[in-house]
Amino acid sequence: MIAKSSTYVVMGILNTDSIAYAAGRLIESLGGKVIWTAQNERMKKIFFDRGCKDLSDEQKAAMDFRYCDVTVQEEVEALFASTGPIDGVLHSIAYANPKTCLGGEVLFTEATEDVLQGFHISAASLATVANYAVPQMKEGGSIVTLSFEGQRPFPFYNWMGVNKAALEAVVKALARNYGKDRVRVNAVSAGPLTTKAASSIPYFEHLSKTWEQISPLPWDTVKDKEEVAGAVVFLLGAFAKKITGQTLFVDGGAHFIGGTLMDFEKPAAGEA
Ligand SMILES: NC(=O)c1ccc[n+]([C@@H]2O[C@H](COP(=O)([O-])OP(=O)(O)OC[C@H]3O[C@@H](n4cnc5c(N)ncnc54)[C@H](O)[C@@H]3O)[C@@H](O)[C@H]2O)c1
Repeated sequence: MIAKSSTYVVMGILNTDSIAYAAGRLIESLGGKVIWTAQNERMKKIFFDRGCKDLSDEQKAAMDFRYCDVTVQEEVEALFASTGPIDGVLHSIAYANPKTCLGGEVLFTEATEDVLQGFHISAASLATVANYAVPQMKEGGSIVTLSFEGQRPFPFYNWMGVNKAALEAVVKALARNYGKDRVRVNAVSAGPLTTKAASSIPYFEHLSKTWEQISPLPWDTVKDKEEVAGAVVFLLGAFAKKITGQTLFVDGGAHFIGGTLMDFEKPAAGEA
């Protein structure tokens, strides 16, 4: 549970479709305080200030926004120097150049700089964040990140799938490091959700359709963002006090299914 006086840094909000937004709003609804971070001011202006028509200017102005590009160590350091004591962090961040690292028929690219950039942003940055966030969690705390199927290669997901496998390994390494500080580190592995990041995955539609074949529970690529946010908040809060180094699947059960569902096993169409 989220304590009323707690403070969480929620990193990776682009717009109100972002998983980070759903998780941050849930924290607030339970009485926690949220410090939101966007990658930079320009992106916030374009995607959030101008792009989000579902919030009023007053609602936007009421949010405590900071900027932090996770590939710039000084920015991560400055962010956590500015927050004061915190109870946890959500790292909801990933990027890989869709032209060179996503899509394509085989796992190959000549653009090795793009591969390294994708790894830096999507996996290694969790360690940078932890390094500067943990000293602000003097009473212990929780770090949660977002994964997608780090153990099974999916078509078109290519280098991002490799990055997610690496991210889940980083989670375990950090959980080991920071247990002594009473800081837990976990991932939530979510099924496909409609967001800006997802829109840059070639054939995202194909991935969504795949879920109809492999998810024993009904999966809604829009509404189930709330269910993912619920699991994030569970891991951030005290009910998960002895859970660390884990990847919690919130994917309708798709990750454990052998083969595809038979017709008689599928949830009825339109069921949520
Ligand atoms: N949408 C899905 O289907 C899905 C499923 C499972 C996991 N995830 C993961 O959830 C996380 C959030 O993605 P989302 O779907 O909410 O999309 P999103 O586009 O709303 O969020 C991605 C965020 O990453 C940020 N980012 C990229 N590079 C950055 C950098 N250098 N520094 C700081 N921030 C940077 C972007 O600005 C953006 O806010 C990602 O890790 C994504 O891989 C998404």
